[in-house]
Amino acid sequence: MKISHIKIKGFRNLKPLELKIDKDKDVFAFIGSNGHGKTNLLEAIYLCALSKSFRTRTNSDLVNFEVDFCKIECAVDMEDPKILEIIVTKEPPQKVLKVNGVKRNASDFIGVLKAVFFSPDDLSEMAFAPKLRRRYLDVMLSQLDHEYLNILLRYQEVARQRNALLKKIREKLAKKEELIFWDEQIADFGLSITQKRADLIIQLQDLINTMYKSISQTEDELKIIYQSNIGEFDDKQSFLLKMTQNIDRDIATGTTQLGPHRDDLQFLINGHDMVYFASRGEWRSLVLALKFAEIQLIENKTGEKPILLLDDVFSELDEIRQKYLFEAIKGTQTFITTTHKEFLDGLDVERVVYKVGHGEVII
Ligand SMILES: Nc1ncnc2c1ncn2[C@@H]1O[C@H](COP(=O)(O)OP(=O)(O)OP(=O)(O)O)[C@@H](O)[C@H]1O
Ligand SMILES: [Mg+2]
Repeated sequence: MKISHIKIKGFRNLKPLELKIDKDKDVFAFIGSNGHGKTNLLEAIYLCALSKSFRTRTNSDLVNFEVDFCKIECAVDMEDPKILEIIVTKEPPQKVLKVNGVKRNASDFIGVLKAVFFSPDDLSEMAFAPKLRRRYLDVMLSQLDHEYLNILLRYQEVARQRNALLKKIREKLAKKEELIFWDEQIADFGLSITQKRADLIIQLQDLINTMYKSISQTEDELKIIYQSNIGEFDDKQSFLLKMTQNIDRDIATGTTQLGPHRDDLQFLINGHDMVYFASRGEWRSLVLALKFAEIQLIENKTGEKPILLLDDVFSELDEIRQKYLFEAIKGTQTFITTTHKEFLDGLDVERVVYKVGHGEVII
């Protein structure tokens, strides 16, 4: 799939912008100094794919300081072309999502445009942040499996309600028995999420291992282990029992301790946990392997290549990994930001280069 047109208005520091994207080229580079709006541009595109930002949960942050609303419009060229629109207003705080002019909820909007985003944060934080590792699974599954996204959204809502009730129980404003209603739903949705994540890991395992070997140019075996904290994936009774055993801790903390929101991934190289033994270079190879496996799996499952958003990653990669990235980009519509155009020197495909300065994007 390819984006054919982008229109942005009132978004962060970007000046009103309209870009017609040349379908015959694959790489679109945005070059500019720090703080001029490069990441903002990728963030706007990412929003059209996932309806959320990769760097804020507060919608009003997205709207330019001086205006009341922002609008992003993206035309997507695929078998059945679509126009995606996002409008965010400050007052009332609201986000409206539209597909072909018709208002849609998040679960019908997400996944129309499929995108893989890659930033220096992935490289530096994958080793330390379980949240980022969970997000890797969620972003991929949300774009691949409509049902997963629905279940995840419902699970998150139920967990919020249960946590509010836990706090009420702690303050003696509600009874423990009232939890049963929510526990049942946490177990049902939680088990479905866990099952789907476990299935995804099985599908990714070989892909990631092969890519890791090729990027790091070793014969090292990479294994991913899914760490679920709810035990057997199909055993609702034992999940409910564990929740009951945990209930006093849940009430004391006012949070739900068990469930897929606490899942994690463990990566082993030749059987050794990367968290304790891996070098920075090995983590970098892993993150690249994860991203390329994501692209590959989305293509295998949907028959369409996702678009790729690369935010200033070249400065973080050595020559071998840069070369690998350049090879992998070929044939994929890719939006790249960089501070120095020299970083694109190793890329032997035709590209369109834009300059980004003070929020303005010019060719
Ligand atoms: N809501 C907003 N309204 C106006 N300006 C904003 C808003 N949100 C962010 N900005 C500004 O946008 C500017 C550009 O941010 P961006 O992260 O896109 O820069 P960048 O070009 O990617 O820089 P770097 O090379 O350092 O990553 C920042 O100066 C920031 O203050
Ligand atoms: Mg940036």
